[in-house]
Amino acid sequence: MCGIIGIVGTAPVADRLVDSLKRLEYRGYDSAGVATLEHGRLDRRRAEGKLRNLEKVLREAPLEGRIGIGHTRWATHGRPSVANAHPHATTQVAVVHNGIIENFRELRDELLEAGANFESETDTEVVAHLVSREMRDGRSAVDAVAASLPRLRGAFALAFLFDGDEDLLIGARKGSPLALGYGDGEMYLGSDALALAPFTDTISYLDDGDWAVLRHGSIEVRDAANNKVSRPIQKAAASAFMVEKGNHRHFMAKEIHEQPEVVGHTLAHYLDMASETVRLPADLPFDFAKLDRISIAACGTAYYAGLVAKYWFERYARLPVEIDVASEFRYREAPLPKNGLAIVISQSGETADTLASLRYAKENGQHVLAVVNVPTSTIARDSHVVMPTLAGPEIGVASTKAFTCQLATLAAIAVAAGRARGVLSVAEERELVHALVEVPRLMSEALSLGPEIEVLARTLMKAKDVLYLGRGTAFPLALEGALKLKEISYIHAEGYAAGELKHGPIALIDEKMPVVVLAPHDGVFEKTMSNVQEVVARGGRIILITDGNGSKAAGIGTEATLTLPEMHPAIAPLVYAVPIQLLAYHTAVHMGTDVDQPRNLAKSVTVE
Ligand code: M6R
Repeated sequence: MCGIIGIVGTAPVADRLVDSLKRLEYRGYDSAGVATLEHGRLDRRRAEGKLRNLEKVLREAPLEGRIGIGHTRWATHGRPSVANAHPHATTQVAVVHNGIIENFRELRDELLEAGANFESETDTEVVAHLVSREMRDGRSAVDAVAASLPRLRGAFALAFLFDGDEDLLIGARKGSPLALGYGDGEMYLGSDALALAPFTDTISYLDDGDWAVLRHGSIEVRDAANNKVSRPIQKAAASAFMVEKGNHRHFMAKEIHEQPEVVGHTLAHYLDMASETVRLPADLPFDFAKLDRISIAACGTAYYAGLVAKYWFERYARLPVEIDVASEFRYREAPLPKNGLAIVISQSGETADTLASLRYAKENGQHVLAVVNVPTSTIARDSHVVMPTLAGPEIGVASTKAFTCQLATLAAIAVAAGRARGVLSVAEERELVHALVEVPRLMSEALSLGPEIEVLARTLMKAKDVLYLGRGTAFPLALEGALKLKEISYIHAEGYAAGELKHGPIALIDEKMPVVVLAPHDGVFEKTMSNVQEVVARGGRIILITDGNGSKAAGIGTEATLTLPEMHPAIAPLVYAVPIQLLAYHTAVHMGTDVDQPRNLAKSVTVE
């Protein structure tokens, strides 16, 4: 996750760009840079490390331009260095970027063949060369960006500055956020409202797939299909930037939509995306190769993240996992292996039962690794190793982005364990990392099911009970789907392993009972479908969540089928989380419940 800022100004912008970047430093700080037009020509200054280094460079070689873009970086592709710092530029265009361009390798090869000269190891530089090539082919700057954006795969936000044009900035968003600011004869863009706060409180947010053309007197927004669109303009309370809802009606909606961005950020923390390897801290106090067992304890949604991770650790690292809800683990006096590893998972880092489990594990000689979202929390402080989830503050009581960031972190740990234990080869590690890199884009695609799910939720809201079914990693996801629905819509819901159906819950099935089936087209798909047949035979109503191949192969009549893109089975839990969150969200909204603060619940459960 990087920070982006851009100003179409009436006075020199370099100092203002840097001031804004200071507000964005929380998004990354391994290098920074700005580009402006000096007498119409592109010029840039970049520095490795904190912003003070960039300030020093600018003091020694100031920039006077009245239009510019700036960037603070969190390295994904390529180590922190001046050469890899943004903006990346050709003679025609400079670009800053937040996110991941998944297909950068193939684009780079194509551009290299066409004679492009690359100066960095980043994925971003391909964007500058792509737009440049379009401009050399005779397209205007705006048309060149319009032609280039559809070629980019991934989740990203971009800002462009063009040589020779003092009245043009272009911003684009697909997955990663971008806000627009309206001033008096000046226009702005930035990663969040806080970055724009010194200049304006009149803000709008780009929707996914939008791109915007900024000039001194106007901003024109276009959607992914290139239609002119207008997005609501609002007054931002920038002091509360982290807890603003943006264009969303509820924090939960905002947090669901933030997932491509924050999961990308979390993955960038643990993966070296250029070499497609996992990069955990070098000084871990234990060796995965010497562990006999992992014990996991957590509560609620965090427990379900642990349950998914159990499948990953056992499959990819051949490491047995014991997992308990923390309220049971703390009292059941489980014997723990000498020198074993305990993993506790918590968004808040303050959950009383999880904390007590951590202490029990410590007293029993375990190394304790915490996967937490609040790095200053008690659980983080009390653990031997902290692997942060970089979800940012989660305000909605129903956990969404914290869950998928927990999954991202646990997936990286499982792959690292698999490599350390010699279970995964270099090629297998690369394949899994490659799959993880695709998650932010796939999540964005899953989010586009929103309108379909909103319609479906109108039916679901009439149900008294709902059953969720899944096999493999889709089983914990079924549990999570049921939890999400019951906690915010108050509809009774249960999650079951699909194979357990005929051992009891099938008695509940009748023509009134919606059954949500999570079934990626993977190795257990056919088994799940056999269970679905059993439901259909008893008049049950099926809502199938699957992929293109799954929907072709299902061969059953469903009340609705939500079709996700094809993906590597390992990453399915991260992407399938999105439709189940949306389904719960829209059902609750239709029912008029208090989505962000559902009755009887607290965000942080500090009592047992
Ligand atoms: O802060 P924690 O992750 O430790 O919280 C654990 C559970 O209380 C939490 O996940 C809860 O189940 C959520 N409300 C679920 O949406």
